[in-house]
Amino acid sequence: MQTILITGGAGFIGSHLTRLFVSKYPQYKIINLDALTYAGNLQNLSDIESRSNYQFIKGDITNAKLVNEIFETHQITSVLHCAAESHVDRSIADPLAFVRTNVIGTVTLLQAAKEYWNGDYENKLFYHISTDEVYGSLGETGFFYEDTAYDPRSPYSASKASSDHFVRAYHHTYQLPVKISNCSNNYGPFHFPEKLIPLSINNIINNKPLPIYGKGENIRDWLYVEDHVRAIDLIFHKGKNGETYNIGGHNEWTNIALIRELCRQMDHKLNREAGSSEKLISFVKDRAGHDLRYAIDATKLKDELGWLPSLQFEEGLSKTIDWYLANTAWLNDVVNGSYKDYYEEQYHKR
Ligand code: NAD
Ligand code: TYD
Repeated sequence: MQTILITGGAGFIGSHLTRLFVSKYPQYKIINLDALTYAGNLQNLSDIESRSNYQFIKGDITNAKLVNEIFETHQITSVLHCAAESHVDRSIADPLAFVRTNVIGTVTLLQAAKEYWNGDYENKLFYHISTDEVYGSLGETGFFYEDTAYDPRSPYSASKASSDHFVRAYHHTYQLPVKISNCSNNYGPFHFPEKLIPLSINNIINNKPLPIYGKGENIRDWLYVEDHVRAIDLIFHKGKNGETYNIGGHNEWTNIALIRELCRQMDHKLNREAGSSEKLISFVKDRAGHDLRYAIDATKLKDELGWLPSLQFEEGLSKTIDWYLANTAWLNDVVNGSYKDYYEEQYHKR
C-alpha cells in the first residue's frame, strides 16, 4: 500500500501528474498538498476530485507543523515534489519568494520525510521534480547531460539548483531514498497563461500583441506535459535510488519560429486569413540575464527505461491549441481571476 504526497498538484505539471497517478493506480492513496498560490487552480483537477483514492489539502510546504502532521496522519510512503514558484520573470521581480518555496519548502519536506521514516527506508521515496535550467545556458551546440556542472543564472534556476543540492545532500548524509528528474520546457493543457505558449494562444484569440523578448532567437527544448508525467511515472517505479534523469523532447525551437508556427496553426483553426496572427508579433525589451539555449540529452532515460517522447511538436501544439479553444471558460476564469473562487465553492460548502 502506497500513500503518496504530491506537492503542487493544482499547478500545471502537478495536475497532470496527479490525474495520471489517481487514475492509473487506484490502489495508491494520493494526497495533494497545494497552497493555491496564483498558479494553483483546482479546476485543473475537477474531473478526479471525487475519486476515493484522492484527497486535497490546502497548505504551504514551508509549514513544518502541517507537513509533519500530514506525514503522520496519512502515513506517507512517497513524495512527488512538484510545488514551486516556477516563472523566471517573477523570480527576477521577487527572488525571496523563490528561496522561500523552492529552497525552504523543499528542505522542510526532506526533513519531515527523514524524521517520519526514521531510517526505515524500505519502499520509501522522495522524488524531486526539477528543471534543465539548473545547468545554465548553452551556446549554439551541445546538450545538458546528467553530469553537466550546475550553472544557474536566474533567481528561479538558482533556487531550483539549491533544492536539487539539498535533495542530494539528504541522500548522501542520511541515505534518504531520492530520485531527481530535470526536464525541459513543458507545454500542454492547463498551462498558466503567463508562460510563452499559453500567453500567446490567449493573445491570438483576443487579437492582442504577442510580446517576444529581444530578437526571439533564444532556444527552448519543448516537451508535451503528458510525456513528462509518463517519464516521472517510469522513473518513480523503475528508476534507481539516488539517480538523476534528464527528460527532454529533442525538440529545439527559437521563440520566433515557435510563435510563427503557433500563428500559422491558429489562423487555420480560427478561419483567419493566413498571416493575420503574425502581424500581432511585437518585439519587446529582453528579459534580464535571458538564457540563450536549453537542450536536453535524454539518452539515459531512453536506454535505462525505454522512454521516448510520444508526440511530434507540431502535433502536440495542435492538440494544445485545440484544448485552449475548447476550454475558453477555463482560460477566461484564469485571466479574470475567478478561478480563485473554485476552492471556496468546492471545499467550503462541504
Ligand atoms: P506551476 O507554477 O504551474 O505550479 C506550481 C504549483 O505549486 C501551484 O499549484 C502552486 O499553488 C503550488 N505552490 C507554490 N508554492 C507553494 C507552497 N509554498 N506550498 C504549497 N504549494 C505551493 O508550476 P509547474 O510549471 O507545474 O512546475 C511544477 C514543477 O516542475 C516545478 O518544480 C518546476 O520547477 C518543474 N518544472 C517545470 C517545467 C515547466 O516547463 N513548467 C519544466 C521543468 C520542470
Ligand atoms: P517561459 O515560458 O517563461 O519559460 P522559461 O523562461 O522557463 O524557458 O519562456 C519561454 C521563452 O520565451 C523564454 O526564452 C522567454 C520567452 N518569452 C517571450 O519571448 N515572451 C513572453 O511573453 C514570455 C512569457 C516568454
